Amino acid sequence: MTITRRLALAAGFLAAAALPAFAQGDYPSKPITMIVPFAAGGPTDTIARIVGENMSKTLGQQIVVENVAGAGGTTGATRGKDAANDGYTIMMGHMGTHAASVALYPNLAYDPTTDFAPVGLAAGTPVLILARKDFPAETLAEFIEVAKKEGAALNNANAGVGSVSHVSCLFFNALTGAKPTEIPYKGTGPALNDLIAGQVDYLCDQIVNAAPQIQAGTIKAYAIGIPERSPALPDVPTSAEAGLPDWQVQAWNAIFAPAGTDPAIVAKLSAALDTALDDETVQKRLLELGSVIPEKNLRTSDGLGAHVKSEIAKWSPIIKESGVTVGN
Ligand code: MLT
Repeated sequence: MTITRRLALAAGFLAAAALPAFAQGDYPSKPITMIVPFAAGGPTDTIARIVGENMSKTLGQQIVVENVAGAGGTTGATRGKDAANDGYTIMMGHMGTHAASVALYPNLAYDPTTDFAPVGLAAGTPVLILARKDFPAETLAEFIEVAKKEGAALNNANAGVGSVSHVSCLFFNALTGAKPTEIPYKGTGPALNDLIAGQVDYLCDQIVNAAPQIQAGTIKAYAIGIPERSPALPDVPTSAEAGLPDWQVQAWNAIFAPAGTDPAIVAKLSAALDTALDDETVQKRLLELGSVIPEKNLRTSDGLGAHVKSEIAKWSPIIKESGVTVGN
């Protein structure tokens, strides 16, 4: 083969490799992996599976959930950032991985505002203050009294530093002066199981995980951190009604692709997310679990990008004030 022919072939290969997968065929042409940065069975996993199932139908390819738990969700988020930006690996991030972690981890391996291509918000998930069902307090005021008195004797479960459950209870503990012993898990799926079993005393968890157990009476709920009661749990008082109005915690889940993903692929994913969130069955499942269906403008790349920035601005001062960081 002549040198000219070899060079021409090499140039052809390089050009083909540089083309995004989208330009090489109809995206998606194979299954898409969705990283869930927490244990299976928890709130992030639940939202990912409900929304992902419908998106799979629209996209004509299966979205396969992969649970990559650890370090309060930052292990999975780092994997999501480092994945090839060809649209075949995306992730379900949340208020912890893409907002609270910024102030908690001084050496966080990613910048949520620049290392990801936002796809759209998948769900709003109000947070509740929960205790084991035989905890000796019937109201939030009584619970705060016991928590302050018992201090480190109480076990406060969470999904690791920077998770929603960690940050929400950090906020609660800072407001009330509670100083519990923290028990980290790989997600609130397993943490909730231990709360039901009475192995830990309290947990601040997202409604999608907690609602079925509250309805079944296997755990106690003292308050929900949103301004109005949730239609899914009409008997649970708001934090304001329960006497702690400053404890406002509306968490959220959102889909991200790695930075540099072809904008046409991101747009296709956003459109599939939008279709999923308009679907009657998806809406019914999300609403039964107490989720808030995101507004149309938040189901877009720009909408989610702006939301992430405002959430980092909201949580950073609260976390800094608490004095908690992780030495990574
Ligand atoms: C989970 O899916 O386990 C959670 O979203 C954990 C959390 O952030 O508290």
